[in-house]
Amino acid sequence: MTTNHLLTQLPSYNALVNLSENLASQSISKMLDSDPDRAEDFVVSAAGLTLDYSKALLDRPTRDALLELAADSQWQAKVQAMRNGEAINATENRAALHTLLRASSDNELPDLYAQVSDTRSVMKQWANRINDGQLVGFSGQTITDVVNIGIGGSDLGPRLVTEALTPFHSNVSCHYVANVDPADIQETLLDLSPTSTLFIICSKSFRTEETLSNGLAAKSWLMSAGASTEDLKKHFLAITTNLEAAAQFGVPAANCLPIWDWVGGRYSVWSAVGLSTAIAVGWDNFSQFLRGAEEMDQHFQSAPAEKNLPLLLSLMEVWYCNFLGADNHVVLPYSQHLQKLPDFLQQLTMESNGKSVAVDGTPLNYDTGPVLWGAAGTMGQHSFHQLLHQGTRLCPVDFILPLTTHTGMLGQHRMLVANCLAQSRTLMMGRSAKEAEQALLGRGMNKQEAEKLASHLAMPGNRPNNVITMDTLSPSTLGSLLALYEHRTFCSAMMWGINPFDQWGVALGKEIGAEVLNLMSDGPSSKSENMDASTNRLIESWRRTVR
Ligand code: F6P
Repeated sequence: MTTNHLLTQLPSYNALVNLSENLASQSISKMLDSDPDRAEDFVVSAAGLTLDYSKALLDRPTRDALLELAADSQWQAKVQAMRNGEAINATENRAALHTLLRASSDNELPDLYAQVSDTRSVMKQWANRINDGQLVGFSGQTITDVVNIGIGGSDLGPRLVTEALTPFHSNVSCHYVANVDPADIQETLLDLSPTSTLFIICSKSFRTEETLSNGLAAKSWLMSAGASTEDLKKHFLAITTNLEAAAQFGVPAANCLPIWDWVGGRYSVWSAVGLSTAIAVGWDNFSQFLRGAEEMDQHFQSAPAEKNLPLLLSLMEVWYCNFLGADNHVVLPYSQHLQKLPDFLQQLTMESNGKSVAVDGTPLNYDTGPVLWGAAGTMGQHSFHQLLHQGTRLCPVDFILPLTTHTGMLGQHRMLVANCLAQSRTLMMGRSAKEAEQALLGRGMNKQEAEKLASHLAMPGNRPNNVITMDTLSPSTLGSLLALYEHRTFCSAMMWGINPFDQWGVALGKEIGAEVLNLMSDGPSSKSENMDASTNRLIESWRRTVR
């Protein structure tokens, strides 16, 4: 097991503090102008992706010092420990082997790989059987629609990938229900027919309240259409580690596909959790998705640090967060099909790195995971880009840009690409008050007005951003992109000295949720002495609405 380091104990930490102090005088555009090789040297390609970080707020000495920091963190040894199946998820004493899920072969862990390979075969059989129209429901009708019921990692990954690969869809429609708000399942089922709908109960634990509640709602929907208890078996598959609970729910063993405790929920789309996606896009495309991720894995494990895409992204995250004071990170996919990417990355990065103690339990005195947010371009330009350009906060941006479109509408797609490149340049360049004044005068405004308005139009610029491009958004480049961010998340956690694979912070909310629900389900006057006055009052306000 590799040793755990705290960021501030890493030998290169102080050098980076010093570099950050003199960075104030640095300008990204000046670095580009004065260093003719920067536009090429700060670009790295791998696994179908190209990272252009030439507009990052860092100079060559800083990049070198960050690479030293990575070496100090023993990142490569930790990658190897993860790949070897060591229990690097120390608090749960589990391995983290999501890379095994997309490996095309693995001789280091033959027993585990055999389980992965067997499960992939079962996934393929189900996907092909459903896509060939061979699965029928209780009335003999062919299954035409699949509803995945799951939440968090049992929803966000397959939901994103299924939407992102819309151009590759088969003739079976896949839908996603996650929220316990009954509106979610009610509106999803509105246009579906019970006789031709299959449900996938996707839950690693098979204990998640929202998922079980939606599963019961699905059951009653089917039974209200005449399905018997026995008939239900034809309409449910389960993806879980908890085969016993699935059986109790009524899913026969033959309809259960396993996942394992060495797969974290937010790292599980590659497993049977991705079954709905495999059905939606067909097994061949799902295999390409796995291959793309494997290609990124091979790059991550073999590329030298200075050419390692996940590591470079991670070093910039640590640089912006721990040395330049950024508390957030923005992901802007200029692709409508990737509109759910920020949602997925929120769980991946914030459930992994939203931690405040080190692996050994030492409370940390420095920041860890930033708040990740974003939206598909160009919508953000008409929503929050004002803050990115003229706000007071440092908001480092990753633009994600497929260079081609599946729509055939090349002219309109050219506008999308132009907007992305323009936003990247504008964040870097900004515009001084003087330049703004000149522009206003050039538009015929009088001098007094122009002087008065100029400061409102000034934009500081020097706002760091990366542009990650791919020739086309395909199953393979999508797999590569998601694996890139998984490894970026891992590298940052290694430098922060935290465990990215547990999520103890979500347990208490679930416990209190059960307490409050019990109170709300008890008699009208029940209050709990150990419930605070605010919660008691709020429960009362709810009670008034249901009387
Ligand atoms: O509560 C958080 C969480 O455990 C996530 O980590 C997980 O992806 C989600 O809930 C769903 O869990 P399950 O797949 O066990 O239903």
